Amino acid sequence: MTNTAVDSPLLQPFRSGALDLPNRLVMAPMTRNRAASDGVPLPLMATYYAQRASAGLIIAEAATPNAVGQTYPNITAIHGAAHVAGWRRVTGAVRDAGGRMFLQIQHGGRVGHPATSGLTPLAPSSVPLPGTIFTPGGHRPAAVPRAMTPAEIRATVADFADAARNAIAAGFAGVEVHAANGYLLHQFLGQDTNRRTDAYGGSVAGRIRFVVEVVQAVAAAIGPERVGLRVSPGGTANGMDEGDTDAIYPALVDALDSEGLAYLHVVHADPGTAVFQEIRRRWRGVLIGNPVLGDTVPDDGGRRAGERLLAAGADLVALGRPFLANPDLVDRIRLGAPLNPVRDRYLMYVGGPTGYTDYPALAETLVPAP
Ligand SMILES: Cc1cc2nc3c(=O)[nH]c(=O)nc-3n(C[C@H](O)[C@H](O)[C@H](O)COP(=O)(O)O)c2cc1C
Repeated sequence: MTNTAVDSPLLQPFRSGALDLPNRLVMAPMTRNRAASDGVPLPLMATYYAQRASAGLIIAEAATPNAVGQTYPNITAIHGAAHVAGWRRVTGAVRDAGGRMFLQIQHGGRVGHPATSGLTPLAPSSVPLPGTIFTPGGHRPAAVPRAMTPAEIRATVADFADAARNAIAAGFAGVEVHAANGYLLHQFLGQDTNRRTDAYGGSVAGRIRFVVEVVQAVAAAIGPERVGLRVSPGGTANGMDEGDTDAIYPALVDALDSEGLAYLHVVHADPGTAVFQEIRRRWRGVLIGNPVLGDTVPDDGGRRAGERLLAAGADLVALGRPFLANPDLVDRIRLGAPLNPVRDRYLMYVGGPTGYTDYPALAETLVPAP
């Protein structure tokens, strides 16, 4: 089979602020549950990320900023010296392989369980996650979270800032604050999950306050040019029901636009939607779009969807599963080469090297001509 080389705008270099990237393809953050039970990254993770170092930017999977923020078993953390040391191995391997890396910081809020963290989850309000949650003992009914006190809100903001300092000490170029997909920051944004009657709830201005304070504290800790923010407008993951999506995101963007952040990262970015267009119109900084690929990754690995996003004003394109299954995704897109499919969805979130570091690069799959 002959492949046709592709001249895609996704392969153009990109430079802005602290970002100096050889191409516009960003590896989206993906939790792979391969850390030790205390959240310390294991050596295998260094292999996995180094294999993917040709991405323009890697955003490493969610790391927990404090004990109560832990979502699931074996996810990574970034609140102790051992976490910093473990992540240093990963960032060193990626740097040696020529890559650049941010770390996502995620607090689960109501997406957590005493059977996992040993603690009652904290959330904006005492509204449980619908259904069950995965714990070390299997799926359990979700726990009822406790509404955060003002002191706990202040402490959590400080934990995010400390986690960001730790990430820099661990060798990351920056951090991504996770305000998407139904975790703590997103829970503050939505009407259904945030029923507070104090300054952190009620109006849109109240519901965005916590996210704005976290971002500002993290920016003050490590410099705004090292801080990204991920949002999922209208996203329903983890039982979210925002209510007034079209009011929340313009207000949030306006509140943060002048901070000089590294980027804003939009999940399920659809150029045809009013909310995407409104975000692009208001946000003067770098915009990363994570296109809507559907349940099955298309044969082009998201190239065309990514190009449509660039045409609609995104600066960079984040892809998840295509990078998971293709360590050399950038080369494969450049060469128009076929892609590895995701083999086993179960192995996304559990296990060792199988389904993790054993996806072959193109060179390993080529059979020499007879
Ligand atoms: C295995 C897996 C783990 C994920 N973990 C995270 C995560 O830690 N943080 C996050 O913001 N999104 C996470 N996501 C969502 C991805 O970043 C991305 O938004 C989603 O996969 C859609 O992009 P894709 O169609 O290119 O895969 C995860 C997705 C997958 C498949």
